[in-house]
Amino acid sequence: AEGVIDKHTRVLELIAAYRNRGHLMADTDPLRLDPARLHSHPDLDVLSHHLTLWDLDREFNVGGFASHDKMKLRDVLGVLRNAYCRTMGIEYTHILDPEQREWLQNRIEVPHTKPAVAEQKYILSKLNAAEAFETFLQTKYVGQKRFSLEGAETVIPMMDAVIDQAAEFALDEVVIGMPHRGRLNVLANIVGKPYKQIFTEFEGNMNPKASHGSGDVKYHLGSSGTYIQMFGDNDITVSLTANPSHLEAVDPVLEGLVRAKQDLLDKGQDGFTVLPMLLHGDAAFAGQGVVAETLNLAQLRGYRTGGTVHIIVNNQVGFTTAPEYSRSSEYCTDVAKMIDAPIFHVNGDDPEACVRVAKLAVDFRQRFGKDVVIDMICYRRRGHNEGDDPSMTQPQMYDVIDSKRSVRKSYTEALIGRGDISLDEAEAALRDYQGQLERVFNEVRELEKYIAEPSPSVLEDQTLRTSLVTAIDPTLVQRIGDAHLGFPEAFTVHPRVKPVLERRRKMSRDGGVDWAFAELLAFGSLVYEGRLVRLSGQDSRRGTFSQRHSVLIDRQDESEYTPLSNLGGDKGGKFLAYDSALTEFAGLGFEYGYSVGNPDALVLWEAQFGDFVNGAQSIIDEFISSGEAKWGQRSNVIMLLPHGHEGQGPDHTSGRIERFLQLCAEGSMTVAVPSTPANYFHLLRRHAYDGIHRPLVVFTPKSMLRNKAAVSPVADFTDNKFRSVMQDPHFATGGGGDRNAVTKVLLVSGKLYYELAAKRDKENITDTAIVRLEQLYPLPRRRIREALEAYPNATVFRWVQEEPGNQGAWPTIGLALPDLLPDLLGSLQRVSRRPMSAPSSGSSKVHAVEQHEVIEAAFG
Ligand code: ACO
Ligand code: MG
Repeated sequence: AEGVIDKHTRVLELIAAYRNRGHLMADTDPLRLDPARLHSHPDLDVLSHHLTLWDLDREFNVGGFASHDKMKLRDVLGVLRNAYCRTMGIEYTHILDPEQREWLQNRIEVPHTKPAVAEQKYILSKLNAAEAFETFLQTKYVGQKRFSLEGAETVIPMMDAVIDQAAEFALDEVVIGMPHRGRLNVLANIVGKPYKQIFTEFEGNMNPKASHGSGDVKYHLGSSGTYIQMFGDNDITVSLTANPSHLEAVDPVLEGLVRAKQDLLDKGQDGFTVLPMLLHGDAAFAGQGVVAETLNLAQLRGYRTGGTVHIIVNNQVGFTTAPEYSRSSEYCTDVAKMIDAPIFHVNGDDPEACVRVAKLAVDFRQRFGKDVVIDMICYRRRGHNEGDDPSMTQPQMYDVIDSKRSVRKSYTEALIGRGDISLDEAEAALRDYQGQLERVFNEVRELEKYIAEPSPSVLEDQTLRTSLVTAIDPTLVQRIGDAHLGFPEAFTVHPRVKPVLERRRKMSRDGGVDWAFAELLAFGSLVYEGRLVRLSGQDSRRGTFSQRHSVLIDRQDESEYTPLSNLGGDKGGKFLAYDSALTEFAGLGFEYGYSVGNPDALVLWEAQFGDFVNGAQSIIDEFISSGEAKWGQRSNVIMLLPHGHEGQGPDHTSGRIERFLQLCAEGSMTVAVPSTPANYFHLLRRHAYDGIHRPLVVFTPKSMLRNKAAVSPVADFTDNKFRSVMQDPHFATGGGGDRNAVTKVLLVSGKLYYELAAKRDKENITDTAIVRLEQLYPLPRRRIREALEAYPNATVFRWVQEEPGNQGAWPTIGLALPDLLPDLLGSLQRVSRRPMSAPSSGSSKVHAVEQHEVIEAAFG
């Protein structure tokens, strides 16, 4: 009897083993490159579980498995193999929540009925369309790069099924992010971009006036359309966002874009009615760190989107590199286990399984608000691009591929074999589709041809608005001050934060407004005026420098109070401040996407220290600085980058002004270094109202946050506006200085101004004026001239910066200013640290000596 009890337990173990490891024996590879894996695996062998062939027909207690109390071992194995070892391998037992596991089990451990004939025909029609589109391009555009989908055509019916299921749930939109492979096919067959437009772009025949700026290659462009259900009554918007060649960089951008759309729809806690669908390549999903960064955002309050459907087009190669050389993990999807996502490995040669898993993925997302990963294993019929020969690097694999029939053919044959359709029907459908393409192709050929010309500039696409009023009413200043003391009676403010709040109220009356309060005045006034303000970054709610306190935490119970949230009123304004994950790449990418998704929001991303922004360099290069020129994709995202030489060492000093200025052209972004709280306030408000959708980079202060000289009177907020150039107050009206005595003019940005002014005042220097350049790009040439011409006897003009000579504004401005104002600044001199390979010295003492030298040299 003991032995029997033991065997009952063994059977339960076997069931658990299949649930855990059944995927290791699943028939998921259409190339069957490793035939051994289909036959056995030690974990799944009855013998390893101390059962024998004699046990197959014995009944065991199975404790409710497959809705049975007792089952024959043979039947148990039948259910397990059908569920876990056919053309789909499933990983889900890593999920910690029992409810989710059980939900999946109930969907998986059941017999699958094949789809109705109408549905089969529909799947086939999608495969026809996918294959015919590629064949057509292949014959018409011989040798041109198109990154074909051949070998992965099933992704078309799979995506179609995701969208169909999203429509079934009456969601509002599906937004797709994907890399280049198969993109044209997706544009044509999923998004419904007109063939005519696709072919026109292929002809290289873009109307220069219809495209934006310098443009991008055809397989990067985005589009949107409406999907109408074939077997249901719903329709749904589908869009594909533009992407760069940098694989996976679009991931966080897509999530931000979707979140912005969801926030705009504002359907509350469960209102994740915009579905993000991200396509990935196998090598990129395992290799690119931004994948993990983006996955890590999936459940965070400021970032969640209710679950993303990830589809990996796993063609088992990355350009020329085989999986064993491109990842250390068993599956390319292993990184997704960290967020407890179910992972479905499915054979791309089984379109019905692919469609089934697509619907299951959407159902799971809708039920649990979580990401789902589908790993569609397929192959790449051709080389990385159409001119490449993959047999140089994967000869054996390509011998197999060359002998393979397409999934359209094999599925057609399967349907004919099952008697579901006739051969004639199948061929007629394909011919019909090819005929359509042919007609459009001929039309495009007839179109007028454009002669290639140099690309147009985007400079004039958005025109500056002048005479904008950014000042606010004194009563609003006071109201924002009061909001900081407007917490509920029962709220216990931290004893060290209370005085800050009291000071804010006082500043709103008496002036002496510091940087942090000026910023809150900008945010608060915008919220009051009905705008959505979204701020995120590492520690941004309190502020890295303990300056912002935009969200207060109750000292007793950790409840939250957000003063600016009181200002929204009935105009719908919102202040949303989030501490981000410790990421730059995904963090900034998300905010960029958000700003694209909601063009009216003021979206700010803050680097903890400006230095760390280079972790997001791909987002800056590929999206922020060039997205408009490449795709006409506009963003007014704001980057706040704490910057300043303060002796904190090379990695806590520089927001890399030089790099941003180098990227600026055609009015692509604004780069500013405001030196007073009020000027920062006006800069933010100008950005919110100027109607220009272009990014803004602000180098923000650290020590200046607490500099008693760097405060602004209330009048500067209730009058005034952003000053791109600040005249030396010493020589302004009422300043007391004699302009005629000035022979030297120092041009400077940022906190160094206060250090220069302090020396000038202390030593009573009368021959030198200090003019601040507050906007580094676009250069306010008229204002600079105006400021400099105030000194008729000035002959020496110096650009003074604390950054090393190869860094800061000088490398750009040192060339641009003499060019712009040759009569005045033709022999502009530089005063700075020597060119250095690191941003600063590591020692605060050396820093102090060098800083002193710069200040001395400025006046010397
Ligand atoms: N974003 C929004 N408004 C701006 C910007 C900007 N980046 N730059 C200047 N302005 C506004 C100012 O607020 C100001 O308005 P106001 O007259 O109501 O005060 C007006 O333009 C003039 O700016 P000034 O600071 O007085 O500077 P100046 O007249 O010396 O120079 C400009 C203007 C644009 C800075 C100069 O470089 C120029 O004329 N460039 C050619 C056109 C150009 O670069 N356009 C870029 C358009 S979009 C963009 O830059 C983000
Ligand atoms: Mg690949």
